[in-house]
Amino acid sequence: MPRLKLAVLVSGKGTNLESLLRASREGRMDADVALVLSNRAEAPAVQVARQAGVRTVVVESAGRSREEHERLVREALDAAAPDLVLLAGYMRILTPAFIRGHQGRLVNIHPSLLPAFPGLEAQQQAHAAGVRVAGCTTHFVTETVDAGPILMQAAVAIPPGATPEEARLRILEAEHRVYPATVQLLAEGRARWDGGKVVFRDLPPTTKEVLLSP
Ligand code: GAR
Repeated sequence: MPRLKLAVLVSGKGTNLESLLRASREGRMDADVALVLSNRAEAPAVQVARQAGVRTVVVESAGRSREEHERLVREALDAAAPDLVLLAGYMRILTPAFIRGHQGRLVNIHPSLLPAFPGLEAQQQAHAAGVRVAGCTTHFVTETVDAGPILMQAAVAIPPGATPEEARLRILEAEHRVYPATVQLLAEGRARWDGGKVVFRDLPPTTKEVLLSP
């Protein structure tokens, strides 16, 4: 099976990008990061990409209209012709036209068990709500923010007394497993977009273990 070509959109630290690069290198993901695109030159993720020798494009969003910024992003993406566009801590809302143009090829990771806690600072929201089980979700991007069809989720226990930072780190660790695993599902054709839904096939049996958290 041919390897998937990935474009990864980033705005922040780039730890998810790192997890994708590592999985690709270690043969856990039949996909290669061909392009990293950031809307902030000073995002640490840009350094992560450069150090890994991946082609990196910065299209500053500051000082540009949403349309102008997105036009330049689209041009860079079109030139790379990726199979999948992954949002990995990309803190920009994409226009409906962009989303429609990439339907079924645009994936996001969100740091909550969606549909709980969509939007910004999901980990803080979960912590403030006192949830005992939190987690992350990968999903195809559709026009409603954080509401597209779900690909994978992972749950982590949040013990009473955990600080918001501890909760964030537990969720992030789950993200680093889930994003490469999601790409692998898509690479193997075990999950695919079908008219606004995700269709799965040939999945291994899922665990029946119950995650208890006081
Ligand atoms: C991750 O927790 C990701 O889920 C979140 O930003 C962080 C990026 O971290 N994304 C969102 O909140 C999108 N709504 P990273 O730059 O270290 O990968």
